[in-house]
Amino acid sequence: MNLTTSTDGHILGKVQCPGDKSISQRVLILGAFMNQDMVIDGFLHGEDPLSTMNALNQIGAGILVDEDDRVHLQKRNQSFHNVDNVLNLGNSGTGLRLMLGLISGMGLKASFVGDESLSSRPMERVINPLAEMGANIESSRGKLPISISPSTFNLQYTYELPIASAQVKSCILLAGLAAGTAIEIIEPIQTRDHTERMLKNFGANIETTSLDGKNIIKLASTNNLHAKNYSVVGDISSAAFLIVGALISNSPGLEITNVGMNSSRTGVLKVLQKMGANIEVKNQRLESGEPCADIIVKKSKLKGVELSGKIIPNIIDEIPIISIAAAFADGETVIKDAAELRVKESDRLQAVSEGFSALGIKHENFEDGMNIQGAPNTLLIDHSISIESYDDHRIAMSFLIAGLKCSKPITVRDCQNIFTSFPNFIELISSTGYELKK
Ligand code: S3P
Repeated sequence: MNLTTSTDGHILGKVQCPGDKSISQRVLILGAFMNQDMVIDGFLHGEDPLSTMNALNQIGAGILVDEDDRVHLQKRNQSFHNVDNVLNLGNSGTGLRLMLGLISGMGLKASFVGDESLSSRPMERVINPLAEMGANIESSRGKLPISISPSTFNLQYTYELPIASAQVKSCILLAGLAAGTAIEIIEPIQTRDHTERMLKNFGANIETTSLDGKNIIKLASTNNLHAKNYSVVGDISSAAFLIVGALISNSPGLEITNVGMNSSRTGVLKVLQKMGANIEVKNQRLESGEPCADIIVKKSKLKGVELSGKIIPNIIDEIPIISIAAAFADGETVIKDAAELRVKESDRLQAVSEGFSALGIKHENFEDGMNIQGAPNTLLIDHSISIESYDDHRIAMSFLIAGLKCSKPITVRDCQNIFTSFPNFIELISSTGYELKK
C-alpha cells in the first residue's frame, strides 16, 4: 500500500492517542501468565500486539476480544501447553523477545518464526542470557527460526545489560518470573520500565534501586500475583507523529488526550521543547500504574539541537520523526550514539537518509547517527517524489508527516506496516485536516 500526501494540510483539533504498543504486549503476556480473570481497556489492536495474542492463544491462553474492543483474559483449567505448529510473531521484536523469555522460563517446547524484517534482526541479545539462565534454545546463527525445548533454570541469575534494551530486560524478567529464578539486572542506562511497573502493579516482589548511576532491578523467586482490570495508556511514540505534524504545519493548536507520560518515554517531549516547541501538559494522572496526561501543542518556531548519550534509549523510537522536525527547524541538529537504529524494523538511519536525499534535505549519515541541516521553509518540489519506507511503520509515518512541508504531493511506498503500531493513522490524520490517499 503506497500512500500519497496532499498539500496545504494541517494537524489540528482534538484527538485521542492510540493505545501503547509496548504496554499492550506486556499486559497480554503477563495477564495470560497470571491465569486469572481480567479485562483490558484501551488495548492497541495493531498487528504487533495481535501477533502476540495469537501466539499466546496457540499455547492455550484463550484470550477473547469483545465487540467494544475490550480484551478478556479468563481463568483456564489447564496450564499452557507445547505447540507443534510454529509461533509466528510477524514483525514484532517485542512480542518475540518477550515470548522467548516466558516460554523458556515455563519450560515449554515451541518454535518461533517471523516476517522478513524480524528474521533479519539480532536475537543473541536474548538467546545468550536465556542460555546462561538454563534455557535450551537453538537459533539460526543468532536469528530466527528459534526453537526452545524444556529445561530447568538456575535458582538465581544476575545480568548486566551490555546494550540498553527494554526488550532484553523484560525477556529476562519474564523468564525469571516463569521459572521461579531470582533475578538481578544491572541497567547502566535507563530504558522503558513498563515491565517493572506492571509486575509491581500486579503484586510482584520487584524493586529498583540506583547505584553509581545504574539501575539495579531485583525480582524475587516467589511472586504472588493478583490480576485486576487494566487500562492501557496512549502511546507517546504514536503521539509524536501528530505533535511534529502540528509543529511543522504551523497548526494553531492540537490536543492529544490520554498520552502515556512514563518518564522513560517522554524524552521526545523534552527534545521538542528544547527545540522550541510550545507543549503544555495537563490533567496528569496515573492509569494502572502508568502516568498519563493530555497534551496541547501550540504554534512554535523550532531550532536545531544536539542529541547523544543517556537520552537516546528514551527517544529510540522517535528519532525518525525527530529528524523530520529537525529538517524543518532552523539550524543544525546532530544525533549521536544511536547505532541501535540500524537493527530496528529497518536500518532507520539509512532509511531516513535516503528519504532526506529524495527530498533534497541536506544531511550527513554516519555510523551511529546523523547531522541534519534544517530550514523552516516549505520544500519546493518540481518532480514526482517516491520515498521508500523499507516496510517500516515509523519510517512511513515520518515521511508522510514530512509531506506537510512539501509544495506538491509525495508518495511513500509500502505503508502497510503502519498497521503494526497505529492502525487508525490514516483516518485519525485525516480528521485533523491532512488527507493521505491510497
Ligand atoms: C520496546 C523496546 C525498544 C523499542 C521497541 C519497543 C519494548 O526496543 O525500540 O519499539 O517494548 O520493550 P529495544 O529493547 O530493542 O531497545
